Amino acid sequence: MTKPTKATITFDNDAKPIELPVLSGTLGNDVIDIRTLGKHGVFTYDPGFMSTAACQSSITFIDGEKGQLLYRGYPIEQLAEHCNFLEVSYLLMHGELPNTAQRIEFTKTIVNHTMLHDQLSNIFRGFRRDAHPMAVMIGVVGSLSAFYFDAMDVYNPQHRVISAHRLLAKIPTIAAWSYKYNLGQPFMQPKNSLNYAENFMYMMFAVPCEEYTPNPVLARAFEKILILHADHEQNASTSTVRLVGSSGANPFASVAAGIASLWGPAHGGANEATLKMLEEIGDVSRIGQFIKRAKDKSDSFRLMGFGHRVYRSMDPRAAIMQKTCYEVLNELGLHDDSIFKLAMELEKIALEDEYFVSRKLYPNVDFYSGIVMRAMGIPYSMFTAIFALARTAGWIAQWDEMNADPEHKIGRPRQLYTGEARREFVPIEKRT
Ligand code: SDX
Repeated sequence: MTKPTKATITFDNDAKPIELPVLSGTLGNDVIDIRTLGKHGVFTYDPGFMSTAACQSSITFIDGEKGQLLYRGYPIEQLAEHCNFLEVSYLLMHGELPNTAQRIEFTKTIVNHTMLHDQLSNIFRGFRRDAHPMAVMIGVVGSLSAFYFDAMDVYNPQHRVISAHRLLAKIPTIAAWSYKYNLGQPFMQPKNSLNYAENFMYMMFAVPCEEYTPNPVLARAFEKILILHADHEQNASTSTVRLVGSSGANPFASVAAGIASLWGPAHGGANEATLKMLEEIGDVSRIGQFIKRAKDKSDSFRLMGFGHRVYRSMDPRAAIMQKTCYEVLNELGLHDDSIFKLAMELEKIALEDEYFVSRKLYPNVDFYSGIVMRAMGIPYSMFTAIFALARTAGWIAQWDEMNADPEHKIGRPRQLYTGEARREFVPIEKRT
């Protein structure tokens, strides 16, 4: 069937039909270009943007029916298998995998910007020790605009690259220090001799009084977690970064807003929520009652780590994460990890239940990621912080793409107004 180039909206009254262009991308659904619709006195209504493309992008593509995820056209399975995280970050930012010289140069640039301005450590100290690491990250990332304001002209491509490099380089240090601050342990300065994943583990787990060498199997597993979480089309937090950035806001403020959005349990907070749910279930014998609750519309409980706005089959990242679970648990001798066994039994039971099958609810990336991180000794409170660490690569690529797009405008959605029509002021003595 040939691709349409035009769509016509007809009304069931004598209003004139409206003709609109239909645009096609490289992959995925065609879109009806409704930019001129307002001139015809009508808007579209799509809370949650279930069927709305907010931008053009060439960074990431998800085929929800087939369960496929491509970063710049490369399948996530191949990138997770063959790349390191900085290679994937370079790919997201520049559109191509780096050659040897580019990889060396990019790695050197990032490694040489991992330290924080010394005064930034005072920002951490303004928080209570028991502050959630995500609260600290929102505050500290936002405050970067008060320290690195020498390259914040968002319309200057060179400034955008400098700020992107600073964010990518410093976010692991900020995330790790958010954890160290919780513990009351001294901040560990980054070590340039370590790779990105190893360096984060070092800053998280090392202490000044003894040597620490990251376990290479765990470091590689952690790096896969970062690659899997790096970008995911226009999800809630990425859309937040774009919307904030569309006003010309600097990259640090835009990414801080993205971290805030990611914190929600329906989004990036789901990995922490999944682990807490699995612990609450506790035993295979209790799975049935939680499945029942997840299906009960009068109960707000949902099966954490299950379902997705786009995937209508298994999230490809969940499958890779499940495999990584095996690798990490075997490396740590945790073959009988009860939580992992419980998770696999829960997945099996849910995928045989008509409610989940009919709604095409499958495990998403968060279903297994928490189990891997828990096994690695990462505290639950850091799960979403690590998601934010990884997604910073995608956020800066998407933010840069938006600023480079000559068509981009400040985001300003319209509404369906259901409030009072115009009425006159009522003096207080006349109010009932
Ligand atoms: C991430 O957007 C992204 O790309 C996000 C992400 C990324 O990388 O950026 O992939 C990361 O956020 C993954 C999702 C993590 N969240 C969770 O695991 C929380 C649990 N999942 C749900 O809250 C839910 O599935 C969402 C939020 C993920 C998706 O919700 P949608 O698209 O708004 O779907 P919906 O709420 O309209 O659900 C459709 C139906 C509803 O039932 P009916 O009204 O048809 O009877 O499915 C039901 C929902 O009640 N449903 C669930 C469910 N998820 C959906 N029922 C029980 N348990 C669930 N988990």
